[in-house]
Amino acid sequence: MRIMITGARGQVGRALQAALAGHELILTNRSELDVCQPQSVRAAIQDARPDLVIHSAAYTNVDDCARQPALAYRVNGLGTQNVALACRVAGAALLYISTNEVFSGDNPAGYDEWDVPRPINAYGRSKAAGEFYARSLLSRCYVVRTAWVFAAGGRNFIHAILARARRDGQVQVVTDEIGNPTFAADLAEAIARLIVTEQYGTYHLVNEGACSRWAFAAEILRQAGLSEAGNLPILSAQYQRASTPPRFGELRNNAAAALGITLRPWQEALADYLALAAS
Ligand SMILES: NC(=O)c1ccc[n+]([C@@H]2O[C@H](COP(=O)([O-])OP(=O)(O)OC[C@H]3O[C@@H](n4cnc5c(N)ncnc54)[C@H](OP(=O)(O)O)[C@@H]3O)[C@@H](O)[C@H]2O)c1
Repeated sequence: MRIMITGARGQVGRALQAALAGHELILTNRSELDVCQPQSVRAAIQDARPDLVIHSAAYTNVDDCARQPALAYRVNGLGTQNVALACRVAGAALLYISTNEVFSGDNPAGYDEWDVPRPINAYGRSKAAGEFYARSLLSRCYVVRTAWVFAAGGRNFIHAILARARRDGQVQVVTDEIGNPTFAADLAEAIARLIVTEQYGTYHLVNEGACSRWAFAAEILRQAGLSEAGNLPILSAQYQRASTPPRFGELRNNAAAALGITLRPWQEALADYLALAAS
């Protein structure tokens, strides 16, 4: 398959390059292709003639999105509209990567693929707008929601916890934010399996199991051999930040599981990530 990837230099984009190595890949980054420029997006996709575009590029700093909601909507909402319209003209299918932050997080049971998005922050609203454009402009479209992504070489939650534990001997982490830690390599492998099915629709691809940020930090410290570092539980209300994440943001995988596509438990994925990071 001929596959174009937007945001190819990002955490997920790099993992996709590895997982899709058997396909013909066209990689694009912001410097060559700004998704906010409709004419350039249309020309790039028409010239490349991909069978599928995996739209991974996004404005991903959730706190910056809260400070600049119009820019978040422009990149994540309208940028996806540009990509979807260009796919329609070029006859390409689309896989749009979305987020658990499209949900409000007020349901302790978490979220299934059929639950109705109700975002509570600017990032979530902009990504939900992207979902709307992708689905309404294309019939051959996958929407893949994921969460709490970590990738080798990325500056992510694991990186931040380890750096702070080594520097200060302790970390303070919130107990009242729940999600699914997800290894970018596992997500990319699952996407590689999904795209050959042509079962267009909405999917939740996350590593198996959910936990609080605090429990995630505890496991990171344990597996990294830093259990002696303090892991002080705090509440979100005690942690000043611009964006408000969904409190109960667990995603449940029903739709991909029905196709036989499941991801391993996040603790196993974390062990592989730490081994890679150490090598
Ligand atoms: N990371 C997570 O925890 C997480 C969770 C749920 C869903 N997701 C979704 O997963 C996807 C990939 O995330 P990620 O973690 O790989 O993010 P990332 O590492 O921040 O990569 C995003 C990429 O998008 C590019 N980009 C930003 N604005 C652009 C624009 N206007 N035009 C073209 N490219 C642009 C960035 O380029 P520059 O580096 O040049 O800015 C970057 O390479 C995103 O759609 C995100 O919303 C991520």
